[in-house]
Amino acid sequence: MNTPVEGFSKRSKAEKINWIAEHYTKDPKASKAILEQYWNTNPKMQKLHDEFIENTLTNYYLPFAIAPNFLINEKLYAIPMAIEESSVVAAASKAAKFWLTRGGFKTEILGTEKVGQVHFMYRGNYQALQSFFEELKPKLHKSVSSITKNMEKRGGGIRKIELRNLSDQMEGYYQLHCTFETLDAMGANFINSCLEQFAKTLKEQAQQYDAFSEDEKNLEVVMSILSNYVPNCLARAEVSCPVSQLDADPTLAKEFANKFIRAINIANLEPHRAVTHNKGIMNGVDAVVLATGNDFRAVEAGVHAYAAKDGRYSSLTHATVEGDTFKFWIEIPLALGTVGGLTTLHPLVKLALEILQNPSAKALMEIVAVAGLAQNFAAVRSLVTTGIQKGHMKMHLLNMLNQMGATEVEKQQLVEYFKHHVVTNASVKEALEKIQSQ
Ligand code: MEV
Repeated sequence: MNTPVEGFSKRSKAEKINWIAEHYTKDPKASKAILEQYWNTNPKMQKLHDEFIENTLTNYYLPFAIAPNFLINEKLYAIPMAIEESSVVAAASKAAKFWLTRGGFKTEILGTEKVGQVHFMYRGNYQALQSFFEELKPKLHKSVSSITKNMEKRGGGIRKIELRNLSDQMEGYYQLHCTFETLDAMGANFINSCLEQFAKTLKEQAQQYDAFSEDEKNLEVVMSILSNYVPNCLARAEVSCPVSQLDADPTLAKEFANKFIRAINIANLEPHRAVTHNKGIMNGVDAVVLATGNDFRAVEAGVHAYAAKDGRYSSLTHATVEGDTFKFWIEIPLALGTVGGLTTLHPLVKLALEILQNPSAKALMEIVAVAGLAQNFAAVRSLVTTGIQKGHMKMHLLNMLNQMGATEVEKQQLVEYFKHHVVTNASVKEALEKIQSQ
């Protein structure tokens, strides 16, 4: 039975590794070897990674790949993706190539508004609170002037501070609901610093507000934090082409358009399908968000809330045929940054941004929306035609062969063989055993 540990974070890395290996693994020597295997050979680089978080033991690798041939607003991009799922980059590349000869992707930013809130409790007269708030507002702005000065010089800053009354949902519950423009920064630190100052100013000013009763003066701040729900920080990406161009055979092209739209409509109306449909979109979105050092948890949370904004969880993508034109598009909330955070600190992130031609936050939002749309196109196209397993298992073949301990020569032979055979766990095992017995 293991016992709790005291002062773990203060121990050296070697001590931490010994402790975890000895207390929680069966073969401490082998466990230590695994952890050390993933260290960076450059001590400076390792130190950089050690200091990103607390209690670092080693590094956790994800493949970093490129999906080339993305034509976005007439400009060609090679998109960096960090992801472990075998078929994602292949699918993105395939979709990029498909649309490359059909006009590429067109994008647009529909908004860049970020949100933050001071949640507080106030027990008293609402009109009195409203009058207080009108006097408070300029003081709130003034109280954060040292924080907002630089952002304002570049055209960003606080856009709006509203008083929101939610006391019908929880007795005494109100908010300062604030919106921000954070330009190329994701803005979490900027927003949270402003909000914490707002909270202080709110409390101080309430204490000094003569028209408040003693109870009203003692309003209580619950918390001050940005919101990852950013329905007005929105990117749109679209592809379109004549239906006849969807397949070399005109009858199949029409049939494909119909099947495709039907699949999108199913994701629009049925939450079980919508979640998986959107998961496929997030395969592309998260991979780029991660490669560019952005906060994929924030993006995930915000995206799924947006998918449920009309009261039912539904598809982020939409498709129509109007006249003879097939149109497929996505609208997705993305709070991203291309400055601050890991962007200059993490060498691979810096390189990923360079590969993307050092985009502004808006341009990155557009690229990420495109990655999501492309991924969804590839997935739904496979689903309504060949089925997903054909491509997926082909890409997974090497993982399976590695797991089964196949040699390089055996891998080569079997990759060739499975170009013309159906990949399943059983068929791969059988084929490998057959080669090995010969
Ligand atoms: C798998 O990672 C993603 C898919 O399930 C997405 C979809 O079903 O649309 C293939």
